[in-house]
Amino acid sequence: TKWTTALRYKPYQEWSKQELIDIKQKIDQSHWRLGYHIQPSTGLLNDPNGFSYFNNQWHLFYQSFPYGAVHGLKSWAHLTSDDLVHWQDHGPALLPGDAQDSHGAYSGSAIPVGDKLFMMYTGNVRDENWIRHPKQDGAWMDKDNQIKKISTPLIENPKPGYTDHFRDPQIIKHEDTYYCLIGGRRADDTGHVLVYQAPEVTGPWSYKTELKFTDKDCGYMIECPNLLFVNNRPVLMFCPQGIEQDVLQYSNVYPNAVVIGEDFDWETFSFINPSAIANLDEGFDVYATHGFNAPDGRALAVSWVGLPDTTYPSDEEGWANCFSLVKELKIKDDHLYQIPVVENNQLVKETLNSKEITPQAKLSFKLGASLVGSITLKTELNEELQIILDTTNGKILVDRTNAGVPFATDFGTTRSTKVTAGKEIQADLYLDNTVFELYVNGGRKVITGRIFPQGKQFFVESENIEVKKVILDKIY
Ligand code: FRU
Repeated sequence: TKWTTALRYKPYQEWSKQELIDIKQKIDQSHWRLGYHIQPSTGLLNDPNGFSYFNNQWHLFYQSFPYGAVHGLKSWAHLTSDDLVHWQDHGPALLPGDAQDSHGAYSGSAIPVGDKLFMMYTGNVRDENWIRHPKQDGAWMDKDNQIKKISTPLIENPKPGYTDHFRDPQIIKHEDTYYCLIGGRRADDTGHVLVYQAPEVTGPWSYKTELKFTDKDCGYMIECPNLLFVNNRPVLMFCPQGIEQDVLQYSNVYPNAVVIGEDFDWETFSFINPSAIANLDEGFDVYATHGFNAPDGRALAVSWVGLPDTTYPSDEEGWANCFSLVKELKIKDDHLYQIPVVENNQLVKETLNSKEITPQAKLSFKLGASLVGSITLKTELNEELQIILDTTNGKILVDRTNAGVPFATDFGTTRSTKVTAGKEIQADLYLDNTVFELYVNGGRKVITGRIFPQGKQFFVESENIEVKKVILDKIY
């Protein structure tokens, strides 16, 4: 398929059922599909949207283009779960194509209000000259999961002084007021997070201030701002584009960053004593992490495992990208921890003693102080993902150079991170065929990435490290 602009923006109703069946058939033959990670049923998945708890279920949506592995006309696809581990995909739910979202139902969030779920999202509207006119739109989902869009935008235009890069509203409630955070690019080409407020979710929405969370320059644009509270402290996860390497050192095309404050001032929307800007994930493929404060008291988040402006080997099979596991966020010693939610323990089927592992496995390992050790995941074709731990210098290196079909090689094929020198390292590696998530020292550091081996079997080799292996369940 040649993905012209016209084809990428062809209205959904003009695609035939047969075209979707054909893509599905092709995807069913793939050996790169995942066993327990959220993946698109067809086409491209990107940002997580609308993560919420409503009507006694977890709800999660994904940015979706169902007809191919390209960034085309986006909709929200709907997932529900009783346990944050087993998800049911209900397919396209919030569809684009009306005046307020003609060229895509872009990212946003959701919050229960009364007996409905309120969704706020960006309507990507383009005119005949392909100029953007972003709208911040609303929609209601009822208890039968039926969605009704509100045709009048909640916020009609970007604030004067800001460009048409103005999107990804995150709605939160504090006391009796609704607030919404929007990612934006000022006319002076700097990236910011704008805060709006309203007495009711449906409005009237008025501009309040820019969020104050750093005194550093955040590049030219911020996408997907996400504010939540962990141990009562504010945590902002965001995607700065064009941020300087001396503000944040990163290797991916764009980073997914995080700042933690000591406290939060709701009057001025300021972080009190914000931390430095840090990477949320030290790996290859994490972006647009989206979380919320769940009614059970946990701060939960899920990441897009995939990056903008990047092609992946599975594109040719008609699908791309996946989500991370759902993670619980905690703060210990001023540091953000990401821990797969405890419900994931249900996935554990049995322990394993052989060198050969299933494509769905969890490897747990430890390396004592002052040692160097490694773990290698190999396929029968000798493709390998290598993890080297060095407790003398406090360093972890993940190398996917020879892990299969190469991709995104311009951004390097290794990632490394520092941990405390002279201390033991403990880590859990979740492998799910073509995605891995490495949680180091209880989630203090996370290294996530994709690999696309041509081989189908995995073997584990290790040096100096004892590895505990368990088989995990396949749920798709
Ligand atoms: C981030 C992003 C958002 C936008 C969405 C469109 O990956 O570019 O800013 O709303 O994807 O799919």
